[in-house]
Amino acid sequence: MSEQIGVTGLATMGANLARNLARHGHHVVVHNRTKAKTDALMGAHGEDGDLVPVESLEDLVGALERPRKVIIMVAAGDPTDAVIEAIAPLLDEGDVLVDGGNARYTDTIRRTAELGERGLHFVGAGISGGEEGALDGPSIMPGGSAEAYAVIGPLLEDISAHVDGEPCCTHVGTDGAGHFVKMVHNGIEYADMQLIAEAYDLLRQGLGMSPAEIGDVFATWNEGDLQSYLIEITAEVLRHTDERTGKPFVDVVLDEAEQKGTGRWTVQSALDLGTPVSGIAEAVFARALSGHVDQRAAAQKVLPGPGRDWDDQVADREAFTESVRQALYAAKVVAYSQGFDQIARGAEEHGWDVDRGALAAIWRDGCIIRAAFLDRVRQVFTDEPDLTTLLTNEYFRDAVADAQEGWRQVVAGAARHGVPAPGFASALAYYDGLRAERSPAALIQGLRDRFGSHTYKRVDAEGSFHTMWSEDRREVEA
Ligand code: 6PG
Repeated sequence: MSEQIGVTGLATMGANLARNLARHGHHVVVHNRTKAKTDALMGAHGEDGDLVPVESLEDLVGALERPRKVIIMVAAGDPTDAVIEAIAPLLDEGDVLVDGGNARYTDTIRRTAELGERGLHFVGAGISGGEEGALDGPSIMPGGSAEAYAVIGPLLEDISAHVDGEPCCTHVGTDGAGHFVKMVHNGIEYADMQLIAEAYDLLRQGLGMSPAEIGDVFATWNEGDLQSYLIEITAEVLRHTDERTGKPFVDVVLDEAEQKGTGRWTVQSALDLGTPVSGIAEAVFARALSGHVDQRAAAQKVLPGPGRDWDDQVADREAFTESVRQALYAAKVVAYSQGFDQIARGAEEHGWDVDRGALAAIWRDGCIIRAAFLDRVRQVFTDEPDLTTLLTNEYFRDAVADAQEGWRQVVAGAARHGVPAPGFASALAYYDGLRAERSPAALIQGLRDRFGSHTYKRVDAEGSFHTMWSEDRREVEA
């Protein structure tokens, strides 16, 4: 298969995606707003394949046969709208525009509708894998119509990562579905990294291990249930020594985590959908807390900790390390479970037919959260497409149950010793909240009725009720 395609926006991701397409034997017309980037790409990698540089969007469109296929790889938001506005008038009915950036899914829904009215197909495609993935095979999550997928899908599948011959690319659902699941993917990425960071912090503070030693622990963990890209690169980053100072690299990096926004969007959407993605929320808030430098500086001077040393809990170093591994594994399962819940809810809300099994399958390779355990998740959702929560599936139920002793000890130990572990702790609270036979929400309902006559339902009767709190406290039907 050899196809024609245009790529506009040649920063790292766009350039690497164009090279990936060319390496797969496609005819790739490349364009960038400023010519310098096009020249740089052609100068350094023009030999990668059939890359054809052009200087204007008119030339880009003119160089492609119909139905034209053009991938936009520019920053999300206004820059994407600017490119769409410039190129859309040049296109003809049936042409396909793909937005491969990290667009907000609501923008994608809007753009799909607007371009649809002009007879153009718009495909919001989540692309994950960073710069290496874009070049060597990313995980691709395209939305848009089935018709558009028929035109662009085979090409995207061709350049995606593959697992056992299966492409890490599937038609996720209509309009904004692709960017929605990419957003949640990124939210899970935030949660994953937060949990990894907490595990590192606990090993460092609890056992006094050096970053390189902790890197070795992560490398070992990468051979078991936790095997994943993020665990693998954690070992690499922790073992890295700073060139300038000879210190561990992680010790010379400023401890303020930044974000471009997809994690925050995930939580904003989850609030609207009423889906508790506490793991992702804790990760977003932990990044925000890390950035509140003035408050942290003020608090460091005055807020007392527990003043207790770790001797009791860490006497058996191996046992403690294993408990941290268990906490990481269990909390990770919770975070993924919550993320898949949000995808199911979002799909319901927007009328997308998202197959969670197929999604887990395309996250097995290419993307940042690629992990061995996603193969199991895929199996679970394929066998039980209507499963209410991943946590009740027999395999994950048992795996988390096996890890819970260590998980509980780690959360308790972190609290007793004053080490922040919001990801581990909130995941455990979620787990316990989910399995609780009676929730204290009954009291919350009672209070709402007491101060605001908000009414409540009873366990033993149909209907809504109100207690006449300020009169004789008789109950009336609402
Ligand atoms: C991916 C990544 C990528 C994201 C970065 C940075 O899937 O390839 O999720 O899309 O932009 O990871 O995200 P933050 O700056 O928000 O941490």
